[in-house]
Amino acid sequence: MLAIGSDHGGFELKKALMDVLTKQGVEFKDFGTYSPDSCDYPNIAGEVCRAILSGACDRGVLICGTGIGMSMAANRFSGIRAALCSDCYSAEMTRRHNDANVLVLGGRVIGPGLAEKILEIFLNTPFEGGRHARRIGMLDSIASCENT
Ligand code: RB5
Repeated sequence: MLAIGSDHGGFELKKALMDVLTKQGVEFKDFGTYSPDSCDYPNIAGEVCRAILSGACDRGVLICGTGIGMSMAANRFSGIRAALCSDCYSAEMTRRHNDANVLVLGGRVIGPGLAEKILEIFLNTPFEGGRHARRIGMLDSIASCENT
């Protein structure tokens, strides 16, 4: 199950991507926002990240105006590896090397056609493991050191 969420800056792009996911038969849960009215992106990022960390969802997509605020918020959660992508190469490599579990998009940065392609790559590219698994483990150690 894919978790998806946006603030008002990503609202239109989220709607476009949900249409694509529905057509493709990809299961997703929408964590808001549910209208174009202004809202606070950290709240939506928290909903999506908690759904992933609890195991209710496997991966997530977060969208705000630039993608930057959502990235900052999501990467505060230990175990979340959120990648802001505006190109297909980064989307492929962040799956292969970083095992990114959240894709972040800028709704005011890229158009729906490119966003759709990036999402498709994010959903279908496997993690390579090996030395990359060790490095991801190191990311989680940084988080636990800083929290003690
Ligand atoms: C909202 O105007 C905007 O600040 C937000 O969508 C996002 O881009 C923040 O990083």
